[in-house]
Amino acid sequence: MLDLGGEYQLCADEIRAAIEAVLESRQFIGGPAVIELEKALSSRVGVEHAVAVSSGTDALLCTMMGLDIGHGDEVILPAFTFFATAGSVARLGAKPVFVDIDPRTFNVDPDKIEAAITDRTRAIIAVHLFGQCAEMNAINAIATRHHLTVIEDAAQAIGAAYHGRPAGALGDVACVSFYPTKNLGGFGEGGMIFTSDEHLAGIARQLRNHGESQRYVHERVGGNFRLDTMKAAILLVRLRYLDQFTKRRRDNAARYNALLEEVPVTTPYVPAHQTEVYHQYSILCDRRDELRSFLQKRGVHSAVYYPVPLHLQKCFAFVGCRRGSLPVTEQLCDRILSLPCHPMLTEADLQYVASGVQEFYARFAPTCATASDTHGATEPRSANVGKE
Ligand SMILES: Cc1ncc(COP(=O)(O)O)c(C=O)c1O
Repeated sequence: MLDLGGEYQLCADEIRAAIEAVLESRQFIGGPAVIELEKALSSRVGVEHAVAVSSGTDALLCTMMGLDIGHGDEVILPAFTFFATAGSVARLGAKPVFVDIDPRTFNVDPDKIEAAITDRTRAIIAVHLFGQCAEMNAINAIATRHHLTVIEDAAQAIGAAYHGRPAGALGDVACVSFYPTKNLGGFGEGGMIFTSDEHLAGIARQLRNHGESQRYVHERVGGNFRLDTMKAAILLVRLRYLDQFTKRRRDNAARYNALLEEVPVTTPYVPAHQTEVYHQYSILCDRRDELRSFLQKRGVHSAVYYPVPLHLQKCFAFVGCRRGSLPVTEQLCDRILSLPCHPMLTEADLQYVASGVQEFYARFAPTCATASDTHGATEPRSANVGKE
């Protein structure tokens, strides 16, 4: 699914030089590299403030601590996401309120949000899953009507855009991850908070450093959510490659869309107003687990994000959902499959992966339903692939 070694080789000299400079500086926490990374990303995303933190999870946690979300509060979010989105809510004593998703985009269905709002709701977390933004116009309109904060979980979506505006600048505050597998992946854990709210940014800066306002003066209880200097220096190098790597992901997706055109699977649905960055290239398919083993036997890795929806996880039993509560989410968990889409794939790799999928359906599942039969996508499946 990844070729981190190949990506590293492309920029190895620059990374070694960046590490060397940090070693020479003898500053290992914070410092100029962290400030430079914050500046580079805030100006790229188009927000006033960026606060570097220790992971995407800590970005979510720190953001919600900064918003004073806690016991008695509710936060609306999809159950079809990585655990951290909901885990961070629950860690603060608040209740995650799970809402179903749109079967085509895999992101939260705005039409289902309003019914989940109560007088305890404080925020909506809009997850931009797999590199495509949630429907932010509709989500922001609902939030404004009900005086709620919109938190973007943009962990998987750095570089994505919605109506031409970058992910990270679409809500009140946004959280990204620099986990090594992410499109802007670092060498270790890391994350960032984006906001144009100066007050919230100031609180987040304190919270990442045990709530300190001045040395040994603590206005609130925070934690150690700081980003290491070395990681920031490496991310600054990786950032220089982000656009070309994103283009390769988009080109790979366009090739898959063409190669899988006649195959009875549903390729990603990308409305024209979305600039998708393909953190994952995910198809919907029948007989998913058999297809996966078939590909594995041919040496092709694939992945299931996510096999168990969050509302059915034991630790969230207190939320009160059961099987059947979120039918679209549950159905997708059984049918989703992500194919390798990383920037180091060659044309031969793409053809090999696609031919495996083709062969599986030709040999073993000739009667599977077609994509349009099952999901009724209304726009061309490859709507804006390859467009900038
Ligand atoms: C949607 C989503 N939210 C949050 C996170 C948490 O980020 P991290 O792994 O950096 O803590 C991730 C990372 O995997 C993610 O994919």
